Amino acid sequence: MEYFRYENSELVCEGVPLSELAEEFGTPLYVYSKNQIISNYRSLQGGGSGNSVNICYALKANANGSILKTLASEGAGADVASAGELYLALKAGFNPSRIVFTGVGKREDEIEFALNENIFCVYAESIQELQLISRIAYARGVTARVGLRVNPHVDAESHPYITTGLSHHKFGIESSKIIEAFQYAASLPSIKVEGVHTHIGSQILKRDPYLATAQYLVALIENLRQIEIPISHIDIGGGFGVLYDGVVQHEGLGRQEKNNTAVPPASDVVAALAGVLEPTGCTIWVEPGRAIVANAGVLLTRVLYTKDNGKKKFAIVDAAMNDLLRPSLYDAYHQIVPLKIETYEQEIVDIVGPVCETGDFLARDRSMLKTKQNDLLAVMTTGAYGFVSSSNYNGRLRPAEIMVSGDKVRVIRQREAFEDLS
Ligand code: LLP
Repeated sequence: MEYFRYENSELVCEGVPLSELAEEFGTPLYVYSKNQIISNYRSLQGGGSGNSVNICYALKANANGSILKTLASEGAGADVASAGELYLALKAGFNPSRIVFTGVGKREDEIEFALNENIFCVYAESIQELQLISRIAYARGVTARVGLRVNPHVDAESHPYITTGLSHHKFGIESSKIIEAFQYAASLPSIKVEGVHTHIGSQILKRDPYLATAQYLVALIENLRQIEIPISHIDIGGGFGVLYDGVVQHEGLGRQEKNNTAVPPASDVVAALAGVLEPTGCTIWVEPGRAIVANAGVLLTRVLYTKDNGKKKFAIVDAAMNDLLRPSLYDAYHQIVPLKIETYEQEIVDIVGPVCETGDFLARDRSMLKTKQNDLLAVMTTGAYGFVSSSNYNGRLRPAEIMVSGDKVRVIRQREAFEDLS
């Protein structure tokens, strides 16, 4: 079931026309479909035989409290990347025994917080971090459950900024040094080394890099067992890619550019991974962010002005790089469509924001339906890495966020006001 679709040339989210939301709450506006989030989570949860895979939602993708509560009440675990995310996860009701703490540079106070809350596992990414965890746990008289993040040298073949598993990346412990690191960890006081962790990148569109990583981990665990380092859980990270192109269809839209039309469903990838990893007898953990929330969100924006400079046409909209950074940062593609289809006439246009940077664009040289002043547009698939990366750059107020469930509408974050700028 797709929760964003055209009904009679009008784009709706579940049972609600999006233009009504834009008129009532203003633009720019993030709108999420609660049932899409739940359906994405449940389809991943079904991966692996007998529900053996533990899903830890990566908060960095979207940390709105209502979205977190929705997932916590589904029984999801959480992957947190900072003390702030740990705070949000606990507040939303995630069970600490299903929270993992990832990240290359955790501060002392952050590790203390995690140990105090007795979360499932802290993943260390360096020898010095292991030493610090051991020292903190010792001082508090507790035993810290830790895992080591290994950098497996597998190319996720994604955008260079979000590919993380190669030897020149800052993440994890070098695969050539990992056995030594596990041995060292086993010798430290107040630490119990239970897990092995990887995360090779984000928006991964192929199964092979995952399978190569899983096979590497199986061999690593076997080697560790031979030297009597028992590993009981494997966390293979997140990164499952989603479709960004052609996500909504209407005869008037025609065929848009094709970027990544062949995306394996995350649930299939998880099931394939489980097949490789289950024979180790370890529990299996994954950390999807994007696959749970990306297609559950849209960013609504209004066309302020259109202009034609002779060489190019521009639609200047009221959403900018401070609201959605992905196009500026990664040249990321998001389908952009009108909330009401009133013409089938196409044009090639740049959709740009009001920020004083040439890099402030949502789409460049995009062939799309002709827009005019005051039209409302939806930037699709913006539920992940959208609002979380927003800023007040250029003195712009962060947008409001709305949750739709059936025909119910709820404001889940108020639009910022001038007072919030100081
Ligand atoms: N686990 C770890 C350790 C991670 O670093 C990440 C993402 C995830 C899980 C979740 O990955 P996902 O399933 O969402 O792909 N801002 C970029 C994405 C950055 C991803 C950072 N790490 C974007 O907009 O595409």
